Amino acid sequence: MKRIAVLTSGGDAPGMNAALFAVVKYGTAHGIQVFGVGQGYAGLINGEFTELTVENTEDIIHRSGTILRSARSEQFRTVEGQRKAAGMLKKQEIDGIVVIGGNGSFQGAMKLAELDIPVVGIPATIDNDISGTDYTIGFDTAVNTVIESIDKIKETAYSIDRTIIIEVMGRDSGDIALWSGICTGAESIIIPEADYDIDKIVQGVNHARKRGKEHFIFVVAEGVCSGEAFKKQLAEKIDLEMRVLVLGYLQRGGSPSAYDRMTASKMGTHAVDLLLHHKQGMMVSLRNGKITELPFHQAEQLTHEGFKDYHFASRLLG
Ligand code: ADP
Ligand code: F6P
Repeated sequence: MKRIAVLTSGGDAPGMNAALFAVVKYGTAHGIQVFGVGQGYAGLINGEFTELTVENTEDIIHRSGTILRSARSEQFRTVEGQRKAAGMLKKQEIDGIVVIGGNGSFQGAMKLAELDIPVVGIPATIDNDISGTDYTIGFDTAVNTVIESIDKIKETAYSIDRTIIIEVMGRDSGDIALWSGICTGAESIIIPEADYDIDKIVQGVNHARKRGKEHFIFVVAEGVCSGEAFKKQLAEKIDLEMRVLVLGYLQRGGSPSAYDRMTASKMGTHAVDLLLHHKQGMMVSLRNGKITELPFHQAEQLTHEGFKDYHFASRLLG
């Protein structure tokens, strides 16, 4: 293993840079030349390679986003695009590639593996929705950003008797909503993984109103519906002074937390180890507190567990 490439793909996540730095530092210590690919698979198709060294990556660990920049590429979804990308890697005499990204990026990585490219994946997305791993880099930072925002919102909601509906990201995963909702004492958390009963929510509000409470926080995962749509449902049943807040891209920014930096550092070095040991077509994974790996195909058959202790969650809601 003399030359490896690394790219970041899909939605950026805090901690991607920390993973990049770990790949570069550990890889170069093993005498490997590391090349960063700009703009994910789009850059791979266009041959955007730049050599990464300890010198040009040593000041990135605290930065969110990705210095390589990320992208979503429609062309890479086609067989022609995938062949072009594989051709570029061969032309550059790259012996293996590390793909840092989410679910979709791993689908793409599998296509490269099918074209005999040694590839390993590092799970990084704020959504925490990749099967085969308990954790994806960026989730902890995103949840803390949401918590910080809701803590602020709660103060004003309390002071002026408002109900605030907060729409959070996560795609089809409710993990960001569930964690941030529990950690801020939200009255209701609406997530794709569990049904909700609008009448029960209204009942809860009415009950609390009897003791004089007039401020409520509802966290809605975007995978269920928009904050506005949820507000409409509530407005049909109850007269409440409601405001909707869509946190949006704010959730992807912010300096990565200690947990994200540490996990990214461990996963980055593990990815290089996998390539060095010719274990390819694999993703790095955190399972039961340990950094390990499993083949992409095996991971695909598993369901993502995330934080699914709904019984516990239901004790604190309503
Ligand atoms: P994420 O990796 O964060 O889930 P996306 O789902 O947008 O983000 O995927 C990132 C990129 O991975 C896509 O733009 C596309 O280039 C590639 N990709 C996603 N799914 C596939 C697929 N089934 N086959 C090939 N490439 C894919
Ligand atoms: O996958 C990360 C994520 O931020 C999701 O939570 C969100 O649904 C999506 O990306 C937004 O995608 P885009 O950057 O294309 O608007």
